[in-house]
Amino acid sequence: MSEIESVAIVGAGFMGTGIAEVAAVAGLSVILRDVDAAVIARAAERIDTSLARAIRGGKLDDAHARAARERIELTTQLETIGDADLVIEAVPEHEALKLEVMTAIDGVARDDAVVASNTSSIPIAELAQAISDPTRMLGLHFFSPVPVMRLIEIVVALDTSEETLASARAFAEQIGKVPIETKDRSGFIVNMLLIPYLMAAVRMYEDGFASREDIDTGMKLGCGHPMGPLTLCDFIGLDVMYAIGAALYEEFKRDEYAPPPLLKRMVASGRLGRKSGRGFYDYN
Ligand code: CAA
Repeated sequence: MSEIESVAIVGAGFMGTGIAEVAAVAGLSVILRDVDAAVIARAAERIDTSLARAIRGGKLDDAHARAARERIELTTQLETIGDADLVIEAVPEHEALKLEVMTAIDGVARDDAVVASNTSSIPIAELAQAISDPTRMLGLHFFSPVPVMRLIEIVVALDTSEETLASARAFAEQIGKVPIETKDRSGFIVNMLLIPYLMAAVRMYEDGFASREDIDTGMKLGCGHPMGPLTLCDFIGLDVMYAIGAALYEEFKRDEYAPPPLLKRMVASGRLGRKSGRGFYDYN
């Protein structure tokens, strides 16, 4: 089994940035790449803010945080990922885009590098078509916010080799996460359980059955969840929720996964949740 010492993350959004931070804090050398220079600049700010939060929370000291920050190279150049032991794709949840990015990764990554996708719902087998050696490909599904959530779902596709799986398990533990393994089908373990619950909350609100505040308070105080379901939808992003629900529905054709009409209309009108300033709640 080859040990992972360097990681490249392609896509510097909320998830990619979080993955870069935890890998750097764990002592790995990290390249965080995005096509968009503005996204890279935002990622740098986000990492600094998050590391400062970790220091405030007593999770890191100043020197450790500074060293972690120095281990992260932010770039728009794809070629820089060529030396990484592990490349993780973390671009938005659109299959065509992910396939395009996978093909680009395959063109520059080392022949023996492990290639992973952070997809939450697209079959790894489909993304692996873009990789010349699909035995090196698997899913590494992180949870948001990545520096705080301890789980990684390792998605084992039909062609994933034992060696690739062993490297992924070792990597997850190296960065302080707890890995669980799942087969390659839409939703994996967590979203298959979480998405029907969140869709049910959206339907309950859409039907006018209860106020958004009461739905959220119900699950926070009644079940001890850190966030109510509508707040969590806003946190995940309603476009992401829609994409996952649609992918699960496409895979299983079960009504519980189908995005309700209200969700579709909120996405169409740009109410994407916290990231756009407005979702079920207003964040402006
Ligand atoms: N590194 C390490 N630790 C950090 C950190 C960092 N960069 N930033 C914050 N922390 C720590 C804090 O120190 C704090 O630790 P303690 O609990 O030991 O004090 C903890 O993280 C919580 O941080 P905050 O106090 O700042 O935040 P909070 O208490 O308001 O909680 C929250 C915020 C963690 C988001 C919480 O509301 C929560 O857990 N929400 C649910 C999130 C969830 O369900 N995520 C999964 C979404 S589904 C998904 O991601 C998959 C998908 O495919 C859709």
